[in-house]
Amino acid sequence: MCYTSGMKKFPDGFLWGAATAAHQVEGGNIGSDWWEWEQTRGRERSGDACRHYELYERDFDLARSLHHNAHRLSVEWARVEPQEGRFSDDALKHYAEVVLALKDRGIEPVVTLHHFTNPLWFARDGGWEDRRAPGRFLRYCDAVVRILGKHVRYWITINEPTIYVSHSFLFGVWPPQARSLWRMWRVSRNMVRAHVAVFRMIHQVCRDFGLREPAVSIAQHMTALVPCGSGLRCRFASWLRHKIFNESFVDALVRRRALDFIGLNYYSRQLVEPSNWGIRSLLSDVCRENHRPVPKNSVGWDIYPEGLYELLLKLKKYDLPVMIAENGICAEEDASRWIFIRDHLRSVSRAIGAGVPVTGYLYWSLLDNFEWEKGFGPRFGLVEMNYRTFERKVRPSSLKYAEVCRTGVLSAE
Ligand code: FCB
Repeated sequence: MCYTSGMKKFPDGFLWGAATAAHQVEGGNIGSDWWEWEQTRGRERSGDACRHYELYERDFDLARSLHHNAHRLSVEWARVEPQEGRFSDDALKHYAEVVLALKDRGIEPVVTLHHFTNPLWFARDGGWEDRRAPGRFLRYCDAVVRILGKHVRYWITINEPTIYVSHSFLFGVWPPQARSLWRMWRVSRNMVRAHVAVFRMIHQVCRDFGLREPAVSIAQHMTALVPCGSGLRCRFASWLRHKIFNESFVDALVRRRALDFIGLNYYSRQLVEPSNWGIRSLLSDVCRENHRPVPKNSVGWDIYPEGLYELLLKLKKYDLPVMIAENGICAEEDASRWIFIRDHLRSVSRAIGAGVPVTGYLYWSLLDNFEWEKGFGPRFGLVEMNYRTFERKVRPSSLKYAEVCRTGVLSAE
């Protein structure tokens, strides 16, 4: 790392790019549990999304023109296995073409196998709570890896397992809208088992086919947890949340030697302020008074770049490479996007300087897209989407980021 006059040079071979997820961009994901859920709950539906399923080459042309050398996408389980045990050759062929389209453009694919959505048959037949879940997920992943394995080195098995289990099984905001610690725990256990099985399978398939050593991880969402006050309850709750939401999944996988690197998704800070000693309050209460204010994104999340530095330093103990698998801002005006990227890249560069082996940075997201229960309102994209015409428009911030991707250097201003 070189620090000449405030300029930051990133390591050679650093992966630069952006991330997307199938359900949020592809459109028409009719066989998934999210699609069904959207139809009945009366808010915005994903519908055609960005029509990325058909327009992916256009999107990858844009990524190339922005000098991205890596791109994270997800494969949609509901498309690949629309009925239990029946695999769609068309869908598998499609994803092989998608990955090749990236390769043709000199872009390294980073492939996620589960990004929040499930096939309907799976969700209706016990979903992730069922003890058959790890085996079912393994069978689907095996089909994908056998087709894509030749072209893909970086795999993310499960995106943000702790966000998935907490939103779907504890806080009740995502399907199946459960509110139960017990159910959350069962799902977490099954996801750990599923990851470990898929991790081993990917390594085995690569050995069997004489392929390059793969790099397999999860994308772990981490929030900077800052106690709002100096009292014991705030400090204890921050510590507990960090252990549970940020580290427990990673710890479980490290213990089982099932991570080749750590995929880190980072967005924001939580000012921790539990109102009582009850477990729900300890796990979820945040400060409502806006003490210690910082700028916020358009959906009210605190913007806190130093949190990325702090979390990266905490990852040092694992002694594994770290890839920033998501980091981004939704903003009404684009100027704040570049400031966000610049400030977070400064944190990354400081962490590298402090000895954390960060190997890549993938901005969330390449395109504006369907932001889950929030619909199409939040605009995270480097590229602006017109949801009526499906016209794509490169935003000014993406050109500034493109310069960093091209040179590997973050300039001082
Ligand atoms: C992350 C999700 C991603 C996107 C961003 C804004 O938690 O992984 O799909 O919704 O948040």
